[in-house]
Amino acid sequence: MPSNGRTLRRELYAKLRTGRPDPDDHDQDQNTMSAVEVELTVNGKRQRASVEPRKTLADFLRDDLGLTGTHLGCEHGVCGACTVVVDGEPARSCLMLAVQARGADIVTVEGLSVDGEMNPLQQALWDSHGFQCGFCTPGFLMQITALLAENPSPGEAEIREALSGNICRCTGYENIIDGVLRAAGVTNS
Ligand code: FES
Ligand code: FES
Repeated sequence: MPSNGRTLRRELYAKLRTGRPDPDDHDQDQNTMSAVEVELTVNGKRQRASVEPRKTLADFLRDDLGLTGTHLGCEHGVCGACTVVVDGEPARSCLMLAVQARGADIVTVEGLSVDGEMNPLQQALWDSHGFQCGFCTPGFLMQITALLAENPSPGEAEIREALSGNICRCTGYENIIDGVLRAAGVTNS
């Protein structure tokens, strides 16, 4: 049964007092989560793992699969640094649970390179000086990958709209836009 406000307060006070859960909390057993089997495809490779139901997709990718190219910034869906492509759609992996990705086809930034070489989008961003510290870059790359898959020749306004949920603290965005236009073959400048 879900805890009501009074129960939650009682649990919180008990933990603050003792550093331990309330011994009278009979819901504790229900809060103990057992691992769940998950099978999914990541960067073309089938993966099977046992994960806690509360583990985010971002943590699963980074901690369980070692794919640390997916970055975590805000961890509440605002910055876009954790964006991956799930079944062709961009998704914030900090907001998605690993168990929700069961059966999905996921692409992370590690899946973009071809034979260890940058793919055309990565190259275009490089050529346009579309990053500085690079922290936001994986999220931008995955957002742009999903955009170009749906619309191979987006206009500048469409690019700005698609990237409006990704935050970069370094570039001022203009070079990123140039990189997308370059990747789309709209301009070579
Ligand atoms: S870390 Fe996921 S949106 Fe910021
Ligand atoms: S390049 Fe530094 S945050 Fe975007």
